[in-house]
Amino acid sequence: MRLVKLSVLFAKPCASVLEAALMAFIALHPMPGKAMNLMRDHEDKELRIQNRRYLGSKAKLVTEIRTIVKRYCKGATVFADVFAGTGVVAAAFPEMRLITNDILFSNYICHQAWFLPDIYSHQKVEQLIRIYNAACPSQDNYMSINFADTFFSAANCRKIGYIREDIEQRFKSGELNRRERAMLVTSLLYAMDKIANTVGHYDAYRRGGCLDTALVMRTPVPPECRDGGNECFNEDANALIRRLKCDILFLDPPYNSRQYSDAYHLLENVARWEKPPVEGVARKMDRKNIKSDYCTLGAEAAFADLIENASAKYIVLTYNNMASKGN
Ligand SMILES: C[S@@+](CC[C@H](N)C(=O)[O-])C[C@H]1O[C@@H](n2cnc3c(N)ncnc32)[C@H](O)[C@@H]1O
Repeated sequence: MRLVKLSVLFAKPCASVLEAALMAFIALHPMPGKAMNLMRDHEDKELRIQNRRYLGSKAKLVTEIRTIVKRYCKGATVFADVFAGTGVVAAAFPEMRLITNDILFSNYICHQAWFLPDIYSHQKVEQLIRIYNAACPSQDNYMSINFADTFFSAANCRKIGYIREDIEQRFKSGELNRRERAMLVTSLLYAMDKIANTVGHYDAYRRGGCLDTALVMRTPVPPECRDGGNECFNEDANALIRRLKCDILFLDPPYNSRQYSDAYHLLENVARWEKPPVEGVARKMDRKNIKSDYCTLGAEAAFADLIENASAKYIVLTYNNMASKGN
């Protein structure tokens, strides 16, 4: 894996938002496919925000990003990450009030687990995870009917479907609050992703791949955060930006035509738990409402609109220049 170099980096107070965008540009050299930050930690008993592989994750760059922000963005107290993905960049600024956003619900629910100030019972979450890990359901459910022996074995599908349904029922009955539900769903999504029969995304599964690995949930340990004030959103960044005020606007949009909703459709399906029909070899649900303009020819217009409507003292952008690299 080669090191990613930050080739251009500026961030300083600017008169106009557009100027700020240009001055705070961090251009990243394209990474080879395998060098995308694929984070797996099989040893850890507890679950941390960075224990997840994710396309375009900046987990390996957070120290550099923090150094740049600390050096150039003086006096900032509110940090907004509107293409937050895993949320690892926001997590690197525990002293600030954090605003996270992502178009995928599967990321949003993880942000709720990691960042919301809501009180939760660690003991309750831990106990349920123990029960879920021991479960061995025999009845078929939405997951086993639709996904058996694709990304997961039939047994693991039954277990995933059973756990997700149980979390939802306990949430609906009031036994779990919003944060506790988010923590359990996050634990489930991370556990699924760790054993999925994929090459890191759900566009396809490996024929003849290993399906036997056990699904093991772990107890999420939220990153250090300041008390109160953090907010999480699940919107198109261009809609949210019109109501957002922050000191640092961190932008890490997609940089090629591969839609995250395609790559993570299965995690999104389980996170939403609306049990939609699925189709095709990869068993995808309808994703038209979660497609990103940033993966289309409309990216330039979307980006211009975002900057024009931003209200921030500093804009810090990471972008992978794929102009001469195909899609
Ligand atoms: C490059 S990834 C961000 C990775 C993140 N910085 C991390 O380290 O995990 C881009 C993210 O933007 C999200 N996204 C794409 N289009 C969006 C939009 N229009 N509004 C909000 N989020 C969007 C994707 O779902 C994806 O999670």
